[in-house]
Amino acid sequence: MEIPSSCPSHHQGNAVDLQQTQVLSPHRCSQTSQHEEPWFFDTLHKQWVITAHVLVKQMLLDTRLQARPPEQHDGAWLSRQQAPYSPQVLVREQLLFFEASEQEEAARQLRRAINGLLKSNTLQQQLLARTSDLLASLATQEHCDIVQQFALPLSTQLSAALLGLEWKDDAELVQWAAWSNAFGDYTSGYDAGAALAGIFQFSRVCAHAIKVRRERKESPHDLLTFLLASPLFARSEQRLIANMQMVFAASHITTEKALSSGIQQLVEAGAWHHVREEILAHPALLSSFVEELLRVRTPTRYVARWATEDVSYEDLHIGRGQRVVLSLEAANVDPAVFACPMDTEWSRRPNSHVAFGAGLHACPGAGLARQELQLIFRLLFQAAVDFQPTDIAPIYRDNPNLGGLSSYYVTIHSLGVNK
Ligand code: HEM
Repeated sequence: MEIPSSCPSHHQGNAVDLQQTQVLSPHRCSQTSQHEEPWFFDTLHKQWVITAHVLVKQMLLDTRLQARPPEQHDGAWLSRQQAPYSPQVLVREQLLFFEASEQEEAARQLRRAINGLLKSNTLQQQLLARTSDLLASLATQEHCDIVQQFALPLSTQLSAALLGLEWKDDAELVQWAAWSNAFGDYTSGYDAGAALAGIFQFSRVCAHAIKVRRERKESPHDLLTFLLASPLFARSEQRLIANMQMVFAASHITTEKALSSGIQQLVEAGAWHHVREEILAHPALLSSFVEELLRVRTPTRYVARWATEDVSYEDLHIGRGQRVVLSLEAANVDPAVFACPMDTEWSRRPNSHVAFGAGLHACPGAGLARQELQLIFRLLFQAAVDFQPTDIAPIYRDNPNLGGLSSYYVTIHSLGVNK
């Protein structure tokens, strides 16, 4: 079975037309601007917005553009009278905002630690067991909220296990997810308002985990053991807690978003059944399928940088201290790089999407995220269920960058035969 593409120059059989789903997402705006201009100055927010793939890639690699806001460069923010665990202080202690001299080495160590854990059987077993449990409970229902009943519990449990946090039950994990969303919101420049209190609450959870771990004799194979042993991350209690929150947030928000928006993409395009059949018949397609989902539904829609000096790219001139928003989402559908950009095309090679960023801050969890998504989608397709749309409208979180779906209902049809 072939799903026709709306793209006139499209000839591939393995394509799913995603045009019809674009309108459903209120978070897809940079894509429109991308078709008009490769960059523009957003006068409302006083920032540059870059949408062309070539420029986004170039700027991600340009060390004159830094993730640390300028007020942090002179250390002035440290002298402000702020409570030691205030959101401002904690968020600024995370890897993303480390000084350049420490950042590269710290990110390299973290990537090595995550990749080491990725090879361990324990993490894979946990992933398999948890996904299978959730799928078994979904298979008994007629409808389900894919976010609240699947993507959220799964991504939080995996993030907690990776970090080495021990939890009582799913309700506690869901609470941690809400608290840690405040951390992600604040980091991505979104005013989380009263929810900021969640950063304090989650700090207590992390502080307790550190205390308990220090009292234990053995060192389990997890990221808390790594962070505690790393002089760069364990330089202060604040820094430890900040980076525990960062890993938890960075890992759970993005994975939850990739899973739920990926499922929504297939369901809304009426492609669940077709894609399932294709992938069960050709399991080697799974990795390119996940890459295409990451490209067309980029979970981290943009990253922000500040110019540490005047920077020019041909006729684009960015002044020292100016903020630059690099739209990963727009770059990922740039027609200059991706033919028929809104079609998921499994044979797309190379697929040079920038969903995981690039350069100094390139996502250290990319390998893990890819493996998780491939495994979860494989189990979903093997579960012999067909997901179809309902007339219940999806609900989105407010944060325009990391927000994503907070509720998405599907109807579940059992296909009867377990493949
Ligand atoms: C689909 C899943 C994921 C996506 C799309 C994603 C995306 C990204 C992006 C775009 C950045 C770059 C931020 C910037 O340049 O400002 C980033 C950084 C980061 N990600 Fe991920 N990520 C994912 C999963 C994960 C996981 C599973 C972990 C942890 C296990 C993780 C940990 C981090 C950390 C710690 C950073 C900061 C790196 C630094 O500043 O050096 N991410 N991620």
